[in-house]
Amino acid sequence: MEFAGCSRGSSGRALALAICLLALISLSCAARLSASSRQKLDVHKHLNRLNKPAVKSIKSPDGDIIDCVHISQQPAFDHPYLKDHKIQMRPTYHPEGLFAENKVAESTKERVNTQLWHVNGRCPEDTIPVRRTKEDDILRASSMKHYGRKKQRTIPKSADPDLANESGHQHAIAYVNGDKYYGAKATINVWEPKIQQPNEFSLSQLWVLGGSFGEDLNSIEAGWQVSPDLYGDNNTRLFTYWTSDAYQATGCYNLLCSGFIQINNEIAMGASISPVSGVRGSQYDISILVWKDPKEGHWWMQFGNDYVLGYWPSYLFSYLADSASMVEWGGEVVNSEPDGQHTSTQMGSGRFPEEGFGKASYFRNIQVVDSSNNLKAPKGLGTFTEQPNCYDVRTGSNGDWGHYFYYGGPGKNSNCP
Ligand SMILES: *[C@@H]1O[C@H](CO)[C@@H](O)[C@H](O)[C@H]1NC(C)=O
Ligand SMILES: *[C@@H]1O[C@H](CO)[C@@H](O)[C@H](O)[C@H]1NC(C)=O
Repeated sequence: MEFAGCSRGSSGRALALAICLLALISLSCAARLSASSRQKLDVHKHLNRLNKPAVKSIKSPDGDIIDCVHISQQPAFDHPYLKDHKIQMRPTYHPEGLFAENKVAESTKERVNTQLWHVNGRCPEDTIPVRRTKEDDILRASSMKHYGRKKQRTIPKSADPDLANESGHQHAIAYVNGDKYYGAKATINVWEPKIQQPNEFSLSQLWVLGGSFGEDLNSIEAGWQVSPDLYGDNNTRLFTYWTSDAYQATGCYNLLCSGFIQINNEIAMGASISPVSGVRGSQYDISILVWKDPKEGHWWMQFGNDYVLGYWPSYLFSYLADSASMVEWGGEVVNSEPDGQHTSTQMGSGRFPEEGFGKASYFRNIQVVDSSNNLKAPKGLGTFTEQPNCYDVRTGSNGDWGHYFYYGGPGKNSNCP
């Protein structure tokens, strides 16, 4: 490239040089500016797609903004399959549990978990609370396309170690397979595990699965998670996830893509759960039930005893349009350390299962919905963990807690490199 005056040798050389430098700098600045303003435009377009017009907005003490969006304008209805969908305001059927919730609550001194934003307001009827996506949320993601999506995961068909460790996901889970399942339930102890690297996460959830891992997996997932990348903080948050193609092109967390249809105006997906449990302190837990409505065929989700949140329409799925072939419950972390090394990202409470109640995290009253649409104890419960010295799981059963397990761990320690 040659600029006028740049090769002229004279007393004005220094000045010419300065002008040339300026020209070069401003040229590259202009190039960078247009790239960044293009990105800004893209981010704003993306935000406009995600954030629907709000009837009312509520600022939560944790920095979230909760938009009360009219129920008919929620993200689900951007989905081509759902254009003419008639929203169901309640399930036609609700499976009954083996455990009288109140009795369980009494015996374990369960405390009610509410969402932090409720201190500053509620969403009116005919709206749903949606956690607003901010510019920073999108800029934190490795790419806009990946925002709200989960990286592909390989997992335990069996306890085959070849299936494990890929992409750093580590699990400590209990599971059942080999039958047809029409739902799953669990009461999950809530903690705030420490995450060492912002691109890692720690979650505790149930999975309702059909199809094959790594190929055409259909998955419905719900529980709590700490994910600095997704939310920009270390808070424990209620979340859901779904995919119908093994985490490739379909699905997302919460309401970050079209799919889940929410009907509840009190509970926001992705909102912080508070309070959380402390070691030797009060223990808090949340109940989650996911079940297939035998009439409509949609997969419904209930949070606690009182909140039916909404449903995943059956047409989002292939295998799950019929039934699930596997149910899993437990913890998952992303470990970013390569070569079999671990970070100190915690799963559950960060304590091992043998430490028991008040220290280790638990799932209790785990149940499946069977082909007669009843909640039943899981038969033939198996467990899986890649590295029991890093994160482990231990099952048990008794009268109050039915089938339960303790799970979790500290990650890196003297027995876990
Ligand atoms: C989250 O926790 C990590 C340490 O566990 C800390 O380094 C980081 O600053 C925290 N992030 C925020 C947003 O508070
Ligand atoms: C999985 O990771 C562990 C250490 O974290 C290592 O010992 C084992 O060989 C790995 N397995 C595979 C299949 O890579």
